[in-house]
Amino acid sequence: MIKKCLFPVAGYGTRFLPATKAMPKEILPIVNKPLVQYGVEEATEAGIHEFGFVTGRGKRALEDHFDISYELENQIAGTGKEELLASIRDLINNNTFAFTRQNEMKGLGHAILTGRNLIGDNPFAVVLADDFCVTDGAKDGVLAQMVHLYNQFRCSIVAIEEVPKEEVHKYGVIAGESMKDGLYRITDMVEKPSADKAPSNLAIIGRYILTPDIFEILERTTPGKNGEIQITDALLEQARTGCVLAYQFKGRRFDCGSIDGFVEATNYVYENIYKKSAK
Ligand code: G1P
Repeated sequence: MIKKCLFPVAGYGTRFLPATKAMPKEILPIVNKPLVQYGVEEATEAGIHEFGFVTGRGKRALEDHFDISYELENQIAGTGKEELLASIRDLINNNTFAFTRQNEMKGLGHAILTGRNLIGDNPFAVVLADDFCVTDGAKDGVLAQMVHLYNQFRCSIVAIEEVPKEEVHKYGVIAGESMKDGLYRITDMVEKPSADKAPSNLAIIGRYILTPDIFEILERTTPGKNGEIQITDALLEQARTGCVLAYQFKGRRFDCGSIDGFVEATNYVYENIYKKSAK
Protein backbone atom coordinates (compact mmCIF):
# COMPACT_ATOMS: atom_id res chain seq x y z
CA MET A 1 0.00 0.00 0.00
CA ILE A 2 1.30 3.47 -0.85
CA LYS A 3 0.16 5.69 2.00
CA LYS A 4 2.54 8.63 1.82
CA CYS A 5 3.49 11.20 -0.73
CA LEU A 6 6.44 13.57 -0.69
CA PHE A 7 6.45 16.97 -2.37
CA PRO A 8 9.90 18.50 -2.85
CA VAL A 9 8.97 22.20 -2.90
CA ALA A 10 12.12 24.05 -1.89
CA GLY A 11 12.94 25.43 -5.39
CA TYR A 12 12.94 29.16 -6.02
CA GLY A 13 10.91 29.30 -9.22
CA THR A 14 13.25 31.87 -10.73
CA ARG A 15 11.66 31.50 -14.15
CA PHE A 16 8.55 33.17 -12.79
CA LEU A 17 10.21 36.19 -11.18
CA PRO A 18 9.04 38.67 -10.13
CA ALA A 19 5.82 36.68 -9.42
CA THR A 20 7.74 34.27 -7.18
CA LYS A 21 9.71 36.91 -5.27
CA ALA A 22 7.53 36.71 -2.16
CA MET A 23 5.34 33.74 -3.11
CA PRO A 24 6.26 30.05 -3.58
CA LYS A 25 5.94 28.96 -7.20
CA GLU A 26 3.74 26.06 -6.07
CA ILE A 27 1.10 28.56 -4.95
CA LEU A 28 0.79 30.10 -8.43
CA PRO A 29 -2.80 29.40 -9.48
CA ILE A 30 -3.93 27.45 -12.50
CA VAL A 31 -7.18 29.44 -12.88
CA ASN A 32 -8.35 29.47 -9.23
CA LYS A 33 -6.41 26.69 -7.53
CA PRO A 34 -2.72 26.58 -6.59
CA LEU A 35 -0.55 24.22 -8.61
CA VAL A 36 0.34 22.21 -5.49
CA GLN A 37 -3.30 21.56 -4.64
CA TYR A 38 -3.84 19.81 -7.96
CA GLY A 39 -0.90 17.53 -7.10
CA VAL A 40 -2.31 16.74 -3.67
CA GLU A 41 -5.74 16.01 -5.16
CA GLU A 42 -4.17 13.65 -7.70
CA ALA A 43 -2.49 11.78 -4.82
CA THR A 44 -5.68 11.54 -2.74
CA GLU A 45 -7.41 10.03 -5.77
CA ALA A 46 -4.66 7.39 -5.65
CA GLY A 47 -5.65 6.57 -2.06
CA ILE A 48 -2.84 8.56 -0.41
CA HIS A 49 -3.65 10.62 2.67
CA GLU A 50 -0.34 11.44 4.36
CA PHE A 51 1.66 14.24 2.84
CA GLY A 52 5.19 15.38 3.47
CA PHE A 53 6.64 18.60 2.07
CA VAL A 54 10.32 19.38 1.81
CA THR A 55 10.26 23.15 1.92
CA GLY A 56 12.77 25.93 2.28
CA ARG A 57 12.92 29.57 3.21
CA GLY A 58 10.05 31.70 1.89
CA LYS A 59 7.58 28.81 1.70
CA ARG A 60 5.31 29.65 4.62
CA ALA A 61 2.31 30.16 2.31
CA LEU A 62 2.36 26.42 1.59
CA GLU A 63 1.83 25.55 5.24
CA ASP A 64 -0.88 28.15 5.53
CA HIS A 65 -2.64 26.81 2.45
CA PHE A 66 -2.98 23.37 4.03
CA ASP A 67 -4.27 24.76 7.31
CA ILE A 68 -7.59 26.28 8.28
CA SER A 69 -7.93 30.05 8.00
CA TYR A 70 -10.43 30.79 10.77
CA GLU A 71 -10.59 34.53 10.05
CA LEU A 72 -11.40 33.92 6.43
CA GLU A 73 -13.96 31.20 7.17
CA ASN A 74 -15.61 33.41 9.75
CA GLN A 75 -15.73 36.28 7.31
CA ILE A 76 -17.46 34.34 4.54
CA ALA A 77 -19.62 32.04 6.71
CA GLY A 78 -23.20 31.98 5.49
CA THR A 79 -22.37 33.63 2.15
CA GLY A 80 -22.28 31.99 -1.28
CA LYS A 81 -18.48 32.16 -1.14
CA GLU A 82 -18.15 29.33 1.39
CA GLU A 83 -18.40 26.94 -1.53
CA LEU A 84 -15.12 28.27 -2.93
CA LEU A 85 -13.22 26.89 0.05
CA ALA A 86 -14.88 23.47 -0.10
CA SER A 87 -12.09 21.69 -2.03
CA ILE A 88 -9.27 22.79 0.27
CA ARG A 89 -11.36 22.32 3.40
CA ASP A 90 -12.06 18.77 2.31
CA LEU A 91 -8.32 18.10 1.84
CA ILE A 92 -7.50 19.57 5.25
CA ASN A 93 -10.17 17.47 6.98
CA ASN A 94 -9.18 14.16 5.42
CA ASN A 95 -5.39 14.23 5.18
CA THR A 96 -2.31 15.07 7.23
CA PHE A 97 0.38 17.50 6.16
CA ALA A 98 3.90 17.54 7.57
CA PHE A 99 6.74 19.88 6.68
CA THR A 100 10.48 19.75 6.92
CA ARG A 101 13.12 22.09 5.55
CA GLN A 102 15.91 21.50 3.10
CA ASN A 103 18.40 24.10 4.27
CA GLU A 104 20.76 23.68 1.35
CA MET A 105 19.73 23.23 -2.28
CA LYS A 106 21.69 20.17 -3.32
CA GLY A 107 19.39 18.61 -5.88
CA LEU A 108 16.24 16.53 -6.11
CA GLY A 109 17.92 13.45 -4.66
CA HIS A 110 19.03 15.47 -1.65
CA ALA A 111 15.51 16.93 -1.24
CA ILE A 112 14.01 13.43 -1.23
CA LEU A 113 16.60 12.26 1.30
CA THR A 114 15.68 15.25 3.48
CA GLY A 115 12.12 13.94 3.52
CA ARG A 116 13.19 10.60 4.97
CA ASN A 117 12.03 11.40 8.50
CA LEU A 118 8.54 12.15 7.14
CA ILE A 119 8.39 8.88 5.20
CA GLY A 120 10.07 6.27 7.38
CA ASP A 121 10.46 2.73 6.14
CA ASN A 122 7.58 2.76 3.66
CA PRO A 123 7.23 2.79 -0.10
CA PHE A 124 6.08 6.28 -1.09
CA ALA A 125 5.11 8.52 -3.97
CA VAL A 126 6.90 11.68 -5.04
CA VAL A 127 5.13 14.48 -6.91
CA LEU A 128 6.90 17.40 -8.53
CA ALA A 129 4.08 19.92 -8.59
CA ASP A 130 5.57 21.71 -11.62
CA ASP A 131 4.53 18.76 -13.71
CA PHE A 132 0.80 19.30 -13.79
CA CYS A 133 -1.10 16.23 -14.98
CA VAL A 134 -4.70 15.85 -16.10
CA THR A 135 -6.55 12.68 -16.94
CA ASP A 136 -7.68 14.12 -20.31
CA GLY A 137 -10.19 11.32 -20.76
CA ALA A 138 -8.18 8.58 -19.01
CA LYS A 139 -9.98 6.72 -16.22
CA ASP A 140 -7.46 7.44 -13.46
CA GLY A 141 -4.90 10.09 -12.63
CA VAL A 142 -1.21 9.36 -13.20
CA LEU A 143 -0.45 8.48 -9.57
CA ALA A 144 -3.44 6.15 -9.32
CA GLN A 145 -2.20 4.35 -12.44
CA MET A 146 1.25 4.03 -10.88
CA VAL A 147 -0.05 2.82 -7.50
CA HIS A 148 -1.97 0.16 -9.35
CA LEU A 149 1.27 -0.98 -11.02
CA TYR A 150 3.16 -0.84 -7.74
CA ASN A 151 0.65 -3.21 -6.16
CA GLN A 152 1.44 -5.63 -8.94
CA PHE A 153 5.25 -5.29 -9.19
CA ARG A 154 6.40 -3.93 -5.77
CA CYS A 155 9.34 -1.93 -7.06
CA SER A 156 10.20 1.68 -7.82
CA ILE A 157 8.40 3.19 -10.81
CA VAL A 158 8.96 6.42 -12.73
CA ALA A 159 6.44 8.05 -15.06
CA ILE A 160 7.72 8.74 -18.56
CA GLU A 161 6.60 10.36 -21.77
CA GLU A 162 8.05 10.75 -25.22
CA VAL A 163 9.58 14.15 -25.84
CA PRO A 164 11.16 15.63 -28.97
CA LYS A 165 14.91 14.91 -29.20
CA GLU A 166 15.74 18.60 -28.81
CA GLU A 167 14.10 18.60 -25.38
CA VAL A 168 15.77 15.57 -23.80
CA HIS A 169 18.40 17.82 -22.14
CA LYS A 170 15.70 19.04 -19.72
CA TYR A 171 14.91 15.61 -18.29
CA GLY A 172 16.11 12.36 -16.87
CA VAL A 173 16.01 9.96 -19.84
CA ILE A 174 15.66 6.18 -19.68
CA ALA A 175 16.52 3.14 -21.73
CA GLY A 176 14.58 -0.02 -21.03
CA GLU A 177 13.34 -3.39 -22.15
CA SER A 178 9.68 -3.34 -23.09
CA MET A 179 7.61 -5.57 -20.78
CA LYS A 180 4.22 -4.76 -22.20
CA ASP A 181 2.54 -1.81 -23.86
CA GLY A 182 3.87 1.37 -22.18
CA LEU A 183 5.83 -0.46 -19.48
CA TYR A 184 9.62 -0.81 -19.49
CA ARG A 185 12.16 -2.37 -17.20
CA ILE A 186 14.89 0.25 -16.92
CA THR A 187 18.37 -0.73 -18.11
CA ASP A 188 19.92 2.74 -18.17
CA MET A 189 19.04 6.28 -17.25
CA VAL A 190 20.87 9.57 -17.69
CA GLU A 191 20.11 12.94 -16.10
CA LYS A 192 19.68 15.74 -18.63
CA PRO A 193 21.74 14.28 -21.48
CA SER A 194 22.57 16.13 -24.69
CA ALA A 195 20.49 14.92 -27.65
CA ASP A 196 23.39 12.84 -29.04
CA LYS A 197 24.04 11.12 -25.68
CA ALA A 198 20.41 10.39 -24.78
CA PRO A 199 19.60 6.67 -24.60
CA SER A 200 16.08 7.34 -25.98
CA ASN A 201 13.48 10.09 -26.08
CA LEU A 202 11.58 8.68 -23.09
CA ALA A 203 11.75 11.41 -20.47
CA ILE A 204 11.01 11.06 -16.77
CA ILE A 205 8.26 13.37 -15.57
CA GLY A 206 7.62 14.39 -11.99
CA ARG A 207 5.82 11.31 -10.65
CA TYR A 208 7.70 8.57 -8.85
CA ILE A 209 6.97 5.63 -6.63
CA LEU A 210 10.02 4.74 -4.59
CA THR A 211 10.81 1.82 -2.35
CA PRO A 212 12.44 2.94 0.92
CA ASP A 213 15.84 1.37 0.19
CA ILE A 214 16.28 4.44 -2.06
CA PHE A 215 17.25 6.42 1.07
CA GLU A 216 20.35 4.30 1.76
CA ILE A 217 21.33 4.60 -1.86
CA LEU A 218 20.83 8.37 -1.79
CA GLU A 219 23.04 8.63 1.30
CA ARG A 220 25.99 7.36 -0.71
CA THR A 221 25.08 8.94 -4.05
CA THR A 222 27.73 11.48 -5.02
CA PRO A 223 26.89 14.73 -6.82
CA GLY A 224 26.15 14.17 -10.51
CA LYS A 225 24.80 16.46 -13.22
CA ASN A 226 25.21 20.14 -12.27
CA GLY A 227 26.94 19.14 -9.03
CA GLU A 228 23.61 18.00 -7.53
CA ILE A 229 22.59 14.74 -5.89
CA GLN A 230 20.31 13.28 -8.54
CA ILE A 231 17.42 10.90 -7.90
CA THR A 232 18.10 9.61 -11.42
CA ASP A 233 21.55 8.34 -10.34
CA ALA A 234 20.16 6.63 -7.23
CA LEU A 235 17.40 5.01 -9.30
CA LEU A 236 19.97 3.70 -11.76
CA GLU A 237 21.70 1.88 -8.92
CA GLN A 238 18.35 0.45 -7.85
CA ALA A 239 17.67 -0.61 -11.43
CA ARG A 240 21.05 -2.35 -11.68
CA THR A 241 20.78 -4.23 -8.43
CA GLY A 242 17.04 -4.85 -8.50
CA CYS A 243 14.25 -3.54 -10.69
CA VAL A 244 12.90 -0.11 -11.61
CA LEU A 245 10.01 0.29 -14.01
CA ALA A 246 9.22 3.17 -16.34
CA TYR A 247 5.59 3.72 -17.16
CA GLN A 248 4.22 5.67 -20.09
CA PHE A 249 1.18 7.09 -18.34
CA LYS A 250 -2.24 7.79 -19.81
CA GLY A 251 -3.28 11.41 -19.63
CA ARG A 252 -1.66 14.73 -20.38
CA ARG A 253 1.10 16.61 -18.64
CA PHE A 254 1.98 20.28 -18.73
CA ASP A 255 5.41 21.61 -17.80
CA CYS A 256 4.31 24.32 -15.40
CA GLY A 257 7.94 25.05 -14.55
CA SER A 258 7.97 27.02 -17.82
CA ILE A 259 5.86 30.03 -18.78
CA ASP A 260 4.64 28.36 -21.99
CA GLY A 261 3.52 25.19 -20.18
CA PHE A 262 1.92 27.22 -17.45
CA VAL A 263 -0.15 29.26 -19.92
CA GLU A 264 -1.16 26.11 -21.82
CA ALA A 265 -2.26 24.46 -18.56
CA THR A 266 -4.23 27.56 -17.61
CA ASN A 267 -6.06 27.58 -20.93
CA TYR A 268 -6.71 23.85 -20.70
CA VAL A 269 -8.15 24.03 -17.19
CA TYR A 270 -10.21 27.10 -17.98
CA GLU A 271 -11.81 25.48 -21.04
CA ASN A 272 -12.08 21.87 -19.89
CA ILE A 273 -12.51 21.98 -16.13
CA TYR A 274 -13.33 25.43 -14.79
CA LYS A 275 -15.98 26.47 -17.32
CA LYS A 276 -17.71 23.07 -17.06
CA SER A 277 -17.82 23.14 -13.26
CA ALA A 278 -18.97 26.77 -13.19
CA LYS A 279 -22.08 25.96 -15.30
C1 G1P B 1 13.79 16.71 -12.29
C2 G1P B 1 14.56 15.40 -12.45
C3 G1P B 1 14.51 14.93 -13.90
C4 G1P B 1 13.06 14.83 -14.35
C5 G1P B 1 12.32 16.16 -14.12
C6 G1P B 1 10.84 16.03 -14.39
O1 G1P B 1 14.47 17.72 -12.98
O2 G1P B 1 15.90 15.61 -12.03
O3 G1P B 1 15.14 13.68 -14.02
O4 G1P B 1 13.03 14.49 -15.72
O5 G1P B 1 12.47 16.60 -12.76
O6 G1P B 1 10.20 17.26 -14.33
P1 G1P B 1 14.16 19.30 -12.74
O7 G1P B 1 13.02 19.64 -13.65
O8 G1P B 1 13.82 19.46 -11.30
O9 G1P B 1 15.42 20.02 -13.12
